[in-house]
Amino acid sequence: MHNLHISAECYPAAKAGGLGDVVGSLPKYLNRSGTKSSVIIPFYETEWILERETEAIFEGKAPYGHREFSFSIVKVVDVDPGFDLYLAQIPGRFDRPGIYSDPLSGYAYWDEMDRSFNFQIAVLEWMSSMANSPSIVHCHDHHTALVPFMMSQCNRYERLQKIPTLLTIHNGEYQGRYAKDNYRRLPAFNLEALGLLDWDGELNALASGIKCAWRVTTVSEGYLDELMQDCHGLEKLLRDEKEKMAGLINGIDTEVWNPETDPWLDENFGRESVKTGKQANKNAICLEFDLDPNRPLFAFIGRLVGEKGADHLPALIRNVLEAEQDVSFLILGTGDPELEEILRELNGRHTGYVNTRLEYNEALAHRIYASADFLLMPSRVEPCGLNQMYAMRYGTVPIVRATGGLADTVRDRSEKGGYGFLFDELSLPETMTALLRAVQFYEKRSAFTRNRKKLMGLDFSWDVAAGRYKDLYRDLEGASPASRKAGS
Ligand code: GLC
Repeated sequence: MHNLHISAECYPAAKAGGLGDVVGSLPKYLNRSGTKSSVIIPFYETEWILERETEAIFEGKAPYGHREFSFSIVKVVDVDPGFDLYLAQIPGRFDRPGIYSDPLSGYAYWDEMDRSFNFQIAVLEWMSSMANSPSIVHCHDHHTALVPFMMSQCNRYERLQKIPTLLTIHNGEYQGRYAKDNYRRLPAFNLEALGLLDWDGELNALASGIKCAWRVTTVSEGYLDELMQDCHGLEKLLRDEKEKMAGLINGIDTEVWNPETDPWLDENFGRESVKTGKQANKNAICLEFDLDPNRPLFAFIGRLVGEKGADHLPALIRNVLEAEQDVSFLILGTGDPELEEILRELNGRHTGYVNTRLEYNEALAHRIYASADFLLMPSRVEPCGLNQMYAMRYGTVPIVRATGGLADTVRDRSEKGGYGFLFDELSLPETMTALLRAVQFYEKRSAFTRNRKKLMGLDFSWDVAAGRYKDLYRDLEGASPASRKAGS
């Protein structure tokens, strides 16, 4: 069995969020357990990619509407990320540094649709040329969700029709919705199948993937239940396709995320040395960010957008500090420019208590997980969430909203065996209560240290989670294509 992961992100080559982490680690664990897996992403001009040595594998030209576009597929040869990594080089589309948006302006690229269509077509052209095509094609999110449609419907890819396809939904907030007549840009297919691209009168890539993929997974069971209730209009489709859906929780790469060996930390530590180890890291971070290392440190790491509840942070921080709580906050991330401005102001007003670093910074993220006492995740939507798992691996207590994968991975301290703090509503009274419970817990020093050790002993590795994908692939190999008829 050989599976090919098609994705817009893959760590360390190109990462904007959790999708990158998953595609950069699941294939590595699958390979180790004997399931050959490789990955293809676009050839972006990220620093990591530009430094690589590559070998040309395939060159081609494909139709795109009334025109043609040229592309080449190259393989990374100078490093081994744990899987074969291929890059689709498409001049004029991906020879830019950003993954989704221009890093300077923060705005999404104007030709998002063409980028995504061209990438998928290039991958299919390459696959059609292979002597040994993959035995399973695993697509991730809407950027690659038209692949199952094209494999099953486009005449040009007839050879690929019998290969099972799996679509994983990492985030149903983004669906790839375009005006319907854009179907003309795809390679020719029987127009009776047009309905397979359509949802609510638009071309909807995610909806098409859900209809056409042989199986569909989401990244936690809780998120699957939530999507069937509300997925910005796709909930009915998800309920209709229920029998081919499954919720599989992600794992984390416990080699990249290992406090005992992490090269970015100021001091490495294990379960037994957690108390002194975390304090040493906290001292260094607090010195750098002008915070008092004797106070409890609350961190937020992630995209500064409504989906992650980041807009709730300013009010929460102001309230906590006005209630004269002796605590510090450290925020790392980029996102909504208005929110960034508010956070900058807050930073200026509460110097010594609040600090922010408004950028994407992988090394600093590792150092903050190692230093913080608590990680805040007030997400409105969290399909799986990896940050709470990274935090726990580094002995940091998660304070999370009970949603999606957060509710599936964090158990409240009030429950038997609990180790974190959960709240239901994204409201000031609820988040304040959770935070004050955390402060009280911080003061119980020996129970707090015991809890840190417990967190570090929890197993969120892919060793467990990748096994579920293996089972699914095995089922798929013996399965038949989705029964849905063309046009439905
Ligand atoms: C998306 C989701 C996040 C999930 C990640 C990996 O970024 O928002 O919750 O952990 O994908 O599946």
